[in-house]
Amino acid sequence: MEKFVIKGPCRVKGAVSVSGSKNAALPILASTILFDKTVEIKNLPRVKDIETMINLLRSLGSKISFSKNKRAVKINNSKIKKTFASYNLVKTMRAGILVLGPLISKYGSATVSMPGGCQIGVRPINYHLSGLKKLKMNYEIKRGYVYANAKRIVGSVIKFPKISVGATENLIMASTLASGKTILKNCAIEPEIKDLINFLKTGGAKIKWIGKRTLEIYGVKSLDSTIYSVMGDRIEAGTFCIASALTQGDLNVNGLNPKIINTEINLLKKIGAKIKTKKNQIIIKGSKKIKNLSLITTKEYPGFATDLQAQFMVLLCKAKGRSVIQENIFENRYSHCAELRRLGASIIVKSKKAIIYGGADFEGAELMSSDLRASVALVLAAIASKGKSIIHRIYHLSRGYENLDKKLKKIGVNIKKIR
Ligand code: EPZ
Repeated sequence: MEKFVIKGPCRVKGAVSVSGSKNAALPILASTILFDKTVEIKNLPRVKDIETMINLLRSLGSKISFSKNKRAVKINNSKIKKTFASYNLVKTMRAGILVLGPLISKYGSATVSMPGGCQIGVRPINYHLSGLKKLKMNYEIKRGYVYANAKRIVGSVIKFPKISVGATENLIMASTLASGKTILKNCAIEPEIKDLINFLKTGGAKIKWIGKRTLEIYGVKSLDSTIYSVMGDRIEAGTFCIASALTQGDLNVNGLNPKIINTEINLLKKIGAKIKTKKNQIIIKGSKKIKNLSLITTKEYPGFATDLQAQFMVLLCKAKGRSVIQENIFENRYSHCAELRRLGASIIVKSKKAIIYGGADFEGAELMSSDLRASVALVLAAIASKGKSIIHRIYHLSRGYENLDKKLKKIGVNIKKIR
């Protein structure tokens, strides 16, 4: 199995461009099921989860051709024959559940594997199912699959009991072709959701924000051909910014509108990083002294992103003094703490809180990746460690970071991939 060998400490400098956003591309690809005509999606990240979603669509009968650089696809879903999304595709990429909304809305039937839990939590889909039921979807759960059918998906008023990115996306897609009007209340408002809406609107969907977290959707009969370029990946951008703040780096991060990671940029300024932003660029210089943060709490957007929690924790391990992180979104997102302790970190986890006693002097070690974002946190820690680190099971990283070792090498990190 492939692993990374990193020799630290390194300072990152120069410029890096983020890839397209995995978490925007996945729902956008799933939503192509709603189209009869060919659509072209550009700026796709070349990561495992995108490959898996493409394979899932092909398993339904989707006709898909890649551009030469594999970052764009032309998709025609007019001849989809199957509405069955198998366990072996969904188990490796939980976002497979996002084909449920489009399939039931377009074809009136869908058999989709339950995504199951993962390292960071149980990951239920009850809000997806209860919302779709309100749109007249019938379903039963048998042998790990959702067996769903609907005579016709009919618009309704739905208020999500809790803010959920995936449930909001599934209901937006199902409502797009519903008969009549749907109002979705208490929606997630992540930039990736706005990217999905922008994409659907270029195909003629009638979707409008009528409140901070309220959407009004008028079902249409069909959607038109369109070409769309996926937004830049804000979590990848945040990860590289943290790398610069961690290593007294001097880095230009290109390829996304800095406004969408404003919360995290402000936190980085609070710990002492010097940051300037331009239209599509973040210029970040790390300071010698990293200041602690008494408490940061992960929240739904526009709050502090849970997908950057592990990466921030590495930074706070190096800060002077005590910091506290509270993880409010997922119930088990501290798997990186045990590995960070092996590098010399001092962290105590008490239910949702992680108490970090800073000033750690990381010494390189052998490390084990777990979930996608915990794994990239270990890479950051290895970069800031004295000596050699070996990071095992890096397949977790290839799910969500394109060419991570090449990008890091280009900005001054001593990293190589070995078998
Ligand atoms: C999306 O997951 C992202 N994945 C996650 O990124 C991200 O961490 C998460 O949103 C939060 O921002 C993709 O976009 C592919 P949720 P999702 O539904 O949609 C509970 C990464 O590393 N919940 O907003 O699954 C749930 O258990 C991944 O790229 C229910 O209880 O997140 C969680 O505690 C990790 N019932 C909370 O809500 C439901 O029906 C937020 O989940 C749905 C969710």
